[in-house]
Amino acid sequence: MDDNMNSTVFLGRGSATREFDPANLSTREQYKLLTGSIVPRPIALVTTLGSAGVNAAPFSFFNVVGVAPPTIMLSIGMRGEELEKDTLRNLRAVPEFVVHIVHEDEREAMQLCAGYYPPEVNETELAGFEVLPSRKVRPPRIARCPAQFECVVKNIIPVGAVPYHMVLGEIVAMHFGEDIVSQNLHVDLDRLSPLGRLAGPASYVRLSDRLSLAPVD
Ligand SMILES: Cc1cc2nc3c(=O)[nH]c(=O)nc-3n(C[C@H](O)[C@H](O)[C@H](O)COP(=O)(O)O)c2cc1C
Repeated sequence: MDDNMNSTVFLGRGSATREFDPANLSTREQYKLLTGSIVPRPIALVTTLGSAGVNAAPFSFFNVVGVAPPTIMLSIGMRGEELEKDTLRNLRAVPEFVVHIVHEDEREAMQLCAGYYPPEVNETELAGFEVLPSRKVRPPRIARCPAQFECVVKNIIPVGAVPYHMVLGEIVAMHFGEDIVSQNLHVDLDRLSPLGRLAGPASYVRLSDRLSLAPVD
């Protein structure tokens, strides 16, 4: 990787920067640099439905991308070079899903859902999650998750050579746990207690150190 250090710029703090040309990095190296520095990432625990039944899996290439209508994205990699993950296959068959924000107490159950299981394995059962029927989509929602967003697929966009598939979803119903949203729609972060993802397969963060800044006009 050192061969990629082809120019040096000095930052205000006096430290040099290292520049990398993605064209000279392997897929793995690109992944390491991006997932190590674009942090913390929110985690969507996603339920879908396919011919083999209910599926649940976590995704941290995930964010809100618009409102009116409320729209989120998640990006799903391949299993190896050719095999699509169950979530993507299900979304092509039944273009509806539920995104759940994971409370830090559910971190181990969430991680269980990330295992590589055959399509007929229902990860919500494996992880001991109780599910409820959704209101507007067919996949069920996980009762214990503090925020649940029912979505319909708007678009599935292949990204890159070993493609990721970016899924754009429109939120058609939102559910929050009791006492999480105030009268004027402030979300109580202590009660939401969302888990964030850092680099690697085992590295997470919680929101225990928050800052406030004076607002600008
Ligand atoms: C916290 C966390 C975040 C993850 N984020 C992603 C992601 O953004 N994209 C992805 O393709 N896989 C991601 N994974 C891996 C998938 O969850 C894993 O491949 C899972 O087995 C996919 O399940 P499925 O085949 O049932 O869809 C993540 C795993 C964990 C534990």
